Amino acid sequence: MRIVVSGAAGFVGSHFCDRLLAEGHTVVALDNYLTGRPRNLEHLGREPRFQFVEQDITLPFSIDGDVDAVANMASPASPKDYLEFPVETLDVGSIGTRRMLDLAREKNARFLLTSTSECYGDPLVHPQVETYWGNVNPVGPRSCYDESKRFAEAMTMAYHRKHGVRTTIARIFNTYGPRMKLDDGRVVPAFMDQALRGEPMTVFGDGKQTRSFCYVSDLVDGLYRLMMSDERYPVNLGNPLEMTVLEFAGYIRDLTGASSEIIFQPLPQDDPKQRKPDITKAQTILGWEPVVPLEDGLRRTVEYFRALATVA
Ligand SMILES: NC(=O)c1ccc[n+]([C@@H]2O[C@H](COP(=O)([O-])OP(=O)(O)OC[C@H]3O[C@@H](n4cnc5c(N)ncnc54)[C@H](O)[C@@H]3O)[C@@H](O)[C@H]2O)c1
Repeated sequence: MRIVVSGAAGFVGSHFCDRLLAEGHTVVALDNYLTGRPRNLEHLGREPRFQFVEQDITLPFSIDGDVDAVANMASPASPKDYLEFPVETLDVGSIGTRRMLDLAREKNARFLLTSTSECYGDPLVHPQVETYWGNVNPVGPRSCYDESKRFAEAMTMAYHRKHGVRTTIARIFNTYGPRMKLDDGRVVPAFMDQALRGEPMTVFGDGKQTRSFCYVSDLVDGLYRLMMSDERYPVNLGNPLEMTVLEFAGYIRDLTGASSEIIFQPLPQDDPKQRKPDITKAQTILGWEPVVPLEDGLRRTVEYFRALATVA
């Protein structure tokens, strides 16, 4: 298959390209480097089945030749990034998603949208099932991301209903792994960065809010299966293993051998208190569930960040 991937120079997009190439497909990668980096795709420079096009997908573009699938992954994803680029985030979720849907329609290609658990906002239902409509503050600081993704989901369903595009929607929960940015403000790199520097580890609120973390190869496997499926409604992809942020900080501290103290800071506005996917649907229709143990995934991630520190 020939597959167009937007957001390819990002954390998830670059791993998805690796998986597609490993499956024998050909990849046309699009990115404008808003939050991604060339380094994430450097290893594919000599791969004949891989082509990179520097492209902002909110601007008009065209792709020559046949396309069998379109994966729309472009969007700032970390709170630090989307708070810095709120308008770009809304634009890429709305205008960018529409352009990628138009491409899928024009080429009669499958379409995958990487949506997010943030569609559930600060959820009143726990764990979150796909049928839950969410509890989102439409005017809070995070709304640029949440509403951008909710719009993207609505537009994707509209293209399916109106134009018959073979769409799929993944609601991704917290994912971690190599190629995340150390300074992107997400929990895993933030704790690792502080622990590896031997600095105090910052926990927001009392640290009793829960998160669940999925290793990136598990996520990518779920995305691949979903893109190939006929499921049109959203599917949660994430790891249901839930722990408090405080437990998690202690875990990373032990794993890195750091002696950092844990300090507490006020909780950011609209920070969700609980996050845990119900993955029954993915298990049932995709035969998918995470297989990488947290400790293995964290070790691989720590190794990546350590190696990066020696290169820098
Ligand atoms: N990583 C997670 O835990 C997580 C969780 C939920 C959802 N997601 C979704 O997965 C996708 C990838 O997330 P990520 O963690 O890899 O983020 P990332 O910031 O590492 O990657 C996003 C990529 O999109 C690119 N991009 C942004 N705007 C663009 C535009 N207008 N045109 C072209 N490229 C553009 C960026 O440069 C970057 O390379 C996003 O859609 C995100 O919403 C990720």
